[in-house]
Amino acid sequence: MTGSEEKTTTLDPGNADWQSRKEAAFARAIGTLAPVYIEHAKNAEMWDVEGQRYIDFATGIAVCSTGHTNPKVTAAVQQQLQRFSHTCFGITPYGSAVELAEKLNELAPGSTPKKTMFVTTGAEAVENCVKIARAYTGRRGVIAFNGGFHGRTMMAMGLTGKVAPYKNLFGPLPGDIYHVPFPVGYHGITLEHTLSALDTLFQVNIAASDVAAVIVEPVQGEGGFYPASNEFMQAIRALCDENGIVLIADEIQSGFARTGRFFCCEYAGVEPDLMSVAKGVAGGFPLAAVIGKAAIMDAPPPGGLGGTYAGSPIGCAAALAVIDIIAEENLVERANQIGTLFSHRLSLLQQQHPGVIGDIRAQRGAMIAMELVKDGDPDLADPGLTSALVTNAWQHGLILLSCGVRGNVIRFLPALTISDELIEEGMNIVECCLNELLS
Ligand SMILES: Cc1ncc(COP(=O)(O)O)c(C=O)c1O
Repeated sequence: MTGSEEKTTTLDPGNADWQSRKEAAFARAIGTLAPVYIEHAKNAEMWDVEGQRYIDFATGIAVCSTGHTNPKVTAAVQQQLQRFSHTCFGITPYGSAVELAEKLNELAPGSTPKKTMFVTTGAEAVENCVKIARAYTGRRGVIAFNGGFHGRTMMAMGLTGKVAPYKNLFGPLPGDIYHVPFPVGYHGITLEHTLSALDTLFQVNIAASDVAAVIVEPVQGEGGFYPASNEFMQAIRALCDENGIVLIADEIQSGFARTGRFFCCEYAGVEPDLMSVAKGVAGGFPLAAVIGKAAIMDAPPPGGLGGTYAGSPIGCAAALAVIDIIAEENLVERANQIGTLFSHRLSLLQQQHPGVIGDIRAQRGAMIAMELVKDGDPDLADPGLTSALVTNAWQHGLILLSCGVRGNVIRFLPALTISDELIEEGMNIVECCLNELLS
């Protein structure tokens, strides 16, 4: 069924009623990008309780990469639900988790034998990467990058390189975390700046021999969709090798076919020691993993890692289906085609509005962004226009996300199963909204 054939019915209560009840019932820190209450969703479209249709360029922040209610994922989950929903893998295990771990070990970049552990959320995967790296090295320090985002739990929040709204008010933060600049050509931050900051860090703050891990996103997500260059990833790999430091690639947003490789690290030919994986892994069900070199993964003793819901059978069933779908529907290649389609439309838009779209980032598959500035100046961020565009877009039936340390980046994260027609229709809305806002 296409979008236009879908039945639209207004339900009671409507969006405004739900929103006022939400505001009364929820802590105010739990934000709402678009106060539209979703009633059902299918592939790259959603419908709210008032029957309004939305094209989804957000996929619940890079989660539903195989589309909403993908029939194969739904069938796998339904089958699992009929058998059992929870036993706790650490108490009475089940084969699907073992099968999934075997597949992830095979899919992870590099030839070193791998092992896996499961948790429930991305932040938990990051926390466990740090625990494993510390247990393996017997060291304390962790290096992260300015603008990085690693989650909202204590250690993950400490690693996150953006203060508001993630870190202010929530201190004291965990110790032994050090931030250095992430190379961003568009903002004049070069690889040399980063390497020199690391050199200074080792002289001023912590000896390299006390550093357990470096954590890096192969494409900075929340920070603004800045891709790590191959040279940067290779330089960090070499630095870790020289100093016995564990390299953690946070592939939570960039993994699982999103960037036109199964894992984004593959672009640089870099084999990380540990990888955090979540979001797209289970097509909308809460599952996350740490995949890493077997010798490092085995550093913590039995019982040292785990969790009640770690590797839920529902999440494992969904993830096994997602891996099959990615292979059967060639979604790695599709991510690249999607990137090309967006890139074309964004270039035309950039020509239409010179000086407004300062930079287009479409080098990494379907992890696409445009940075909005004033007068074509990279230093003159335009967060006002960015948030107006997000609002204008959902009011016109398109869900868009922003990001960026300066709040001036629009990121495009459509399902990898989206049709060309829906991409064009969504980009027509972006074009209309931008024209309206700039007129
Ligand atoms: C790169 C990266 N790491 C970690 C996280 C945290 O994941 P979660 O929200 O599942 O805890 C995110 C979430 O956006 C992310 O993009």
